[in-house]
Formats: sequence, structure tokens, C-alpha cells
Amino acid sequence: EQQPSNRMIEAHELLKKFYHHLLVNTKEGQEAYDYLLQRGFTEEFIKRFEIGYTINSWDFAVKFLTKRGFNLEEMEKCGLLIKKDDGNEYFDRFRNRIMFPIHDLQGRTIAFSGRILGEGQPKYLNSPETPIFLKSKTIYNFHAAKKAIRKQEQVLLFEGYADVIAAVGAECENSVATMGTSLTVEQAKIIRRNVESVIICYDGDGAGIEATVKAASILQEAGCHVQVAPLPDGYDPDQYIQEFGALKFRQSVIENSLTYTSFKLRYLKRGKDLQNEAERMHYIDSALKEVNTLTKAVEKEHYLRQLSDEFSISLSALKEQELQINKVQKQ
Ligand code: GTP
Ligand code: MN
Ligand code: MN
Ligand code: MN
Ligand code: MN
Repeated sequence: EQQPSNRMIEAHELLKKFYHHLLVNTKEGQEAYDYLLQRGFTEEFIKRFEIGYTINSWDFAVKFLTKRGFNLEEMEKCGLLIKKDDGNEYFDRFRNRIMFPIHDLQGRTIAFSGRILGEGQPKYLNSPETPIFLKSKTIYNFHAAKKAIRKQEQVLLFEGYADVIAAVGAECENSVATMGTSLTVEQAKIIRRNVESVIICYDGDGAGIEATVKAASILQEAGCHVQVAPLPDGYDPDQYIQEFGALKFRQSVIENSLTYTSFKLRYLKRGKDLQNEAERMHYIDSALKEVNTLTKAVEKEHYLRQLSDEFSISLSALKEQELQINKVQKQ
């Protein structure tokens, strides 16, 4: 195993600065810059998040790094270059992409995520796992958000880099994201070391909901207290902020967060026609199973009362059926 080296980090730091320069100050970066501005990224936030652009070239980074005396084999090991199938030549991993620098918990630049301009596949190209980039232990923007997370005693967890940047723009400075993959146990432990309360703010689509359920169980396992921010169907936080503004995002999404149980009760309703008697009964049944997993009597009572009000069913009938679940399970 290759040891992490300072030269690997130094290369990332230098390229980060140069990519940013290309985006902001050069003709080559103009199209990418316009794309970002049109998406609602401001000059200030492009600077703050040190966003960059890398030109459409196979050997821009190769030349840049060679000129500065970097060992190309080492640059391949830290993900910046790719070795050609034949022989010892290298080419750039990232070409014609908007470059989001990724930092470790100490704020050192250890990787990039490169977004395509507009549509195309892959939308985001990430650095591979390397000696300096341990994906399962990296959390996007954690180094910058840490102070706010501790001060507010809460962290907001997003799916995407663009969501974090938009949320910080909406004055939610305690915002972080995973690396486009599902939350890991290690990431949950890092979060828990700093804070107990987590608001999951994933995309309002099927994938976002599935990912919320997964992340919530890992976070709870790590000892976190989880809430879920409700986004309208089809919106991600970035789109929501662009369309409805920062204030409405804070008030209607973040401050309106659901307990994890309320989120699941809502999620169980998806695709069901509650006007239909059989579907309504089926929903109540699954809702009671959810309530049954709670350990605190007060919480149970709270949700049973909600169901009682919502469906005009007596609290005692709901309680009786909820108790029945345990008996069935014990048999
Ligand atoms: P924008 O379209 O730029 O707003 O990005 P997004 O964050 O809304 O993207 P999306 O919701 O599709 O995906 C969420 C996160 O998953 C992204 O921020 C990336 O971290 C990751 N992701 C998305 N597409 C890809 C991909 O093609 N490859 C990889 N490796 N990760 C991806
Ligand atoms: Mn930095
Ligand atoms: Mn998504
Ligand atoms: Mn998204
Ligand atoms: Mn988005």
C-alpha cells in the first residue's frame, strides 16, 4: 500500500488554484462560468467553494505537473492521471469539467469531483479511492461546516455538492454531503463525534427517499437523533432554493423537519389512495407496525393519537391492534 504523501496533496492544492483561475479569469473557462452563473451559483460562492474548470485536453494536468517536478507515477496513484494501456504514458483523468475540490476533515485538498457542462454521462466524475482520498471517511464541506455544526448543535446532510453550496448560500452553514454514495458507518461516526442532531435533506424523489431510510438507520445506529426535511416531489434542495428562495427553504423545509417516524408514516402513504377503504386499512395496518417499533410510551401515544384524529378511529382500538402486533410476533 502506497503511503499518503505531501506531494499528492500539494498537487491537488496547486491544481485547485489553477482550475479556479481558469474558470474565473480565462476565455477557456467562460462557458463553464456562464453555466454556473445561469444555474444560480454566485461569484462569491464560486470563490468560497473554490470551484474550477479544467480544459478539454488530454495532457493539461500532465504538463502542469511535469513542469513542477511531480512524479507522474505518484500522480496516477492519487487519481489525477491515468496510465495508458500501452507503455508508460499518462493522460488527464479530468477533461472539460467543472471541478469541485474535495477536502479532508483538516481542510486539505484530496480529490476532485468533475461535473460535465450541461447534460451527459457520467454527470459527476470523481477521483478514485487513493491513499489520500478515503471515500468512506470523507464528508463534503465538513471542514468548513464544522464550526457552525458545533455551534448550532445540528448538521444538515445533503445528497449533492450543488445542494450544499446552495444551502450555505441560504445561510445554512452547517451543511455537508456524502460523496454521491450512500452514507457509511465511518461517516456517521465522524458526524456523531461532533453532533447528535442530524437533519437529512435528500432529493424529493424515489432514490432520495430510499437513501434517506438507509442513512437514517446508519445514523441512529451511531447514536444520532434523526429528522427529515420534507421536499416537494421532484425537487432537490438546490432547485428548491433557486425557485422559492432562501427564506422559504429555511422556514418550510429545514424548520419544518419531520421526526423520522413522521417521515416514515408519510412515506408509507406514497402511491396509496387513502379514499379507498381497503388501501386505507392497509395503510393503518402498516402505520401501526411502524409505531410498534418505537420504545418510548409517550412517542407511541403521540403517533397513535395522530392516526386516531386522521382516520376517526378510536385511540383504544388503535392501541389494542398495536398491542396485537407483539402477540403475533411472539408466537
Ligand atoms: P446537479 O445536477 O449538478 O444539480 O447535481 P445533483 O447533486 O443534483 O445530482 P444528483 O441528484 O443526480 O446526484 C446527487 C449526487 O450523486 C451528486 O452530487 C454526486 O455526488 C453523485 N452523482 C450524481 N451523478 C453521478 C455520476 O454520474 N457519477 C458519480 N460517481 N456520482 C454521481
Ligand atoms: Mn481550501
Ligand atoms: Mn438525486
Ligand atoms: Mn439532486
Ligand atoms: Mn441538483
